[in-house]
Formats: sequence, structure tokens, C-alpha cells
Amino acid sequence: MNICSLKLRNFRNYDMAECVFRPNSICILEGKNAQGKTNLIESIYYLSHLRSFRTPSSSSLILENQDFFMIQAQIESHQRKEELKIVSMDHEKHLYHFNDPIRRYSDFIGIVNAVLFCPDDLMLFQQSPKIRRRFIDMELIKISKRYTSTLNHYQKMLKERNSILKREKVDPVLLETMTEQMIQDQIIILKQRVSFLEDLMEKTRAFYSYFTKEKEEVGARYQTFISMDDLETNLRNAYKKSEMRDKLYKKTHIGIHKDDIDFHMNGISVKEVASQGQKRSFVLSMKLALCQIIYEKQKEYPILLLDDVFSELDDHRCQKLISILPQKMQIFITTTGNIEPSWLKDHKAYTIQVENGHLREVKK
Ligand SMILES: Nc1ncnc2c1ncn2[C@@H]1O[C@H](COP(=O)(O)OP(=O)(O)O)[C@@H](O)[C@H]1O
Ligand SMILES: [Mg+2]
Repeated sequence: MNICSLKLRNFRNYDMAECVFRPNSICILEGKNAQGKTNLIESIYYLSHLRSFRTPSSSSLILENQDFFMIQAQIESHQRKEELKIVSMDHEKHLYHFNDPIRRYSDFIGIVNAVLFCPDDLMLFQQSPKIRRRFIDMELIKISKRYTSTLNHYQKMLKERNSILKREKVDPVLLETMTEQMIQDQIIILKQRVSFLEDLMEKTRAFYSYFTKEKEEVGARYQTFISMDDLETNLRNAYKKSEMRDKLYKKTHIGIHKDDIDFHMNGISVKEVASQGQKRSFVLSMKLALCQIIYEKQKEYPILLLDDVFSELDDHRCQKLISILPQKMQIFITTTGNIEPSWLKDHKAYTIQVENGHLREVKK
């Protein structure tokens, strides 16, 4: 998958910017600090996820003193051209695919599949379970329509069930109907989450051992409230057991909306044992593994966004990283200028200068 061109209006520090990108190449976004490199990465990420990785509020993405932003892009995927547009104003997003409005976010997310690695990703291990669930959900939403619709349905049923529990008199038939639907949804979601995580870790281990000399064994355990063997029976029993408590406190206490992922190294939680360097190698390996999974499932690579990664790695690791990047993948790398042109000799690469919200291709 490639992003062929991008147009920004009032997005962060870009009042009006247009840029053409080369397919299957590494695009180096070079510039001093605070010029708009990460902002550009953020706009591509936004096209893919309909959210920023830096802020939950869309309004902070609007250029100061303006009342809307627009991101427009031409995408090439499976030899087909796609045209996408997002206009955000008054806390609402308007989405277009070839000028046809798209109503549901889930129909838009995943048309562009971008994978990001940035320094804040190291927080994945420290942050709340919600962030780790979101990580796995975002990735599955982009690659599985069935996952997306089941997750949406589960969330709707959970809301319904909670509102039934809040009523003065709880209707037992309604409650059972909701519970049963939640059980069926969770069987699908749990199986997909667990199998995705297994696949992800198997591939992550291969990348991890490429980056590090030490031989730590990295892995991840999916943590849920039941054992995975006989899911349907276990789920039914768990909800039966929890019913009294749910009625008493008027809410649903158990479900996949509370699950977590325990990332570990040699069997011990990453947040307890890993150094910054080990965490970085772990997440980086995971992101590369993700690209591999997407390639296997969709028969094309996602767009890889590497923000501020090279400033944190020593020269040897930078070269190692570049040499393992697939040549058929479109990649954006931000840098203040510490990437040696010789490191890129095996790739098609070019440089775009980012200066105060303006983009210009430069010869290197
Ligand atoms: N909504 C906004 N309106 C105008 N400028 C913004 C907005 N959000 C961020 N900026 C500006 O963008 C710049 C930071 O851009 P960024 O892409 O993060 O820099 P870098 O090139 O270091 O990655 C800062 O100068 C910041 O003030
Ligand atoms: Mg930056």
C-alpha cells in the first residue's frame, strides 16, 4: 500500500500543504525541531485510525485561529487508486471516499493501513490495560471486518445490559438475552485476540533476536477472566456466578472490556525487568512483526511510520533497522539529520525537507 499524495489544510502547523510521495520507497522527513515532521506523520496516522496518537481531541489538531482541518490523500492499494478525505469541524468528522460521504467510522478505518513506531510506544508496558486493549483492538479492526462488527455489537450489548441492571425491576428474560449475546460475541473476540497475539509474538521473537545480542525470551500472555479451554461453558458459568453481584451493584463486572496483556521477558513482566533499550527493541520488533502479519493477511505491506526513532538508536542499530526494512514497503522516517545516506544504499530513498509547515523535496 502506498500513499501517493497528501493535501493538508489547517492541520497543526500546516495551513496549506501538498506533497507527492514515491511508492515503495523510504521517505526521509528531515528538519529541525518543531517544524512539522511529527505533524505530517500524525496526519497519515489519522487517515488510518481516525484518531491521533498524541491527543484524544481532534480540535487541537486544527491550526490556531481556524475552525476546521482537512486531510486529503490519494492511496494506491492492490493496484487500485483510492481517494480519501477527512474534514473535521465543530467536533465532528466528515469522511469521504471518492467524494461519497462515509457515515460509519468503521467503514473508513483500515482503507489506509499505517503502522507507527514512536518513542511514546515504550509506555505501552506502563500504561493502563485500556491502552494495551486499544493496541490490539486497533490492529484487529484494521484487518478484520468480523472483529470490528463483533466488537461494536459487544459494546452495544454491554451498554444495554448495564441499563437493564440499572432499572428498578430487572427483567430476567431481557438480562439473559443480553448476556447470551455478549457470550457469543466474546467467544469470537477472545479467539481472535489470542490467536493474533500468538502470531504477533512468534514473529516478534524473530525480530527481537535480530536486534539484541542477549537471548532474552520475549512473549505476551493474554489475561482474561476465564480459562480458554471450553469457552462457552466457562463464560456461562462466570456470568451465572456474577449475576447476584451485577444486580446488587447495577453493572456488569466481567467481560473482555476488562482484559489485559502481560508482556514478559524471560517470564517476568516487562515493566518490572526491562531496560529502556530492551523495551525499545521489544516494541520495535512488535511493530515490524505487525507489518509482517498485515502482509500475510492482506498481501501487501502497510505504510510504516517511524517517528524520532533514529535519534534514540546508536549508528549500528540504525543501520541494522534500515537493512531489515522490506524494500517493497513505503516508509516515512523523521530525522533532524542523523541518517547517513550510505545506510540507505539498498533502498529507494529520497528526502523531503520540513520547514515551518512547508514541504520541499531536496536532492541528497
Ligand atoms: N494546532 C496547532 N496550530 C498551530 N501550530 C501547531 C498546532 N499544533 C502544533 N503546532 C506546532 O507544530 C510544531 C511542532 O510540530 P512537530 O511536527 O511536533 O515538530 P517536529 O518537526 O519536531 O516533529 C510546534 O511549533 C507547534 O507549536
Ligand atoms: Mg517530532
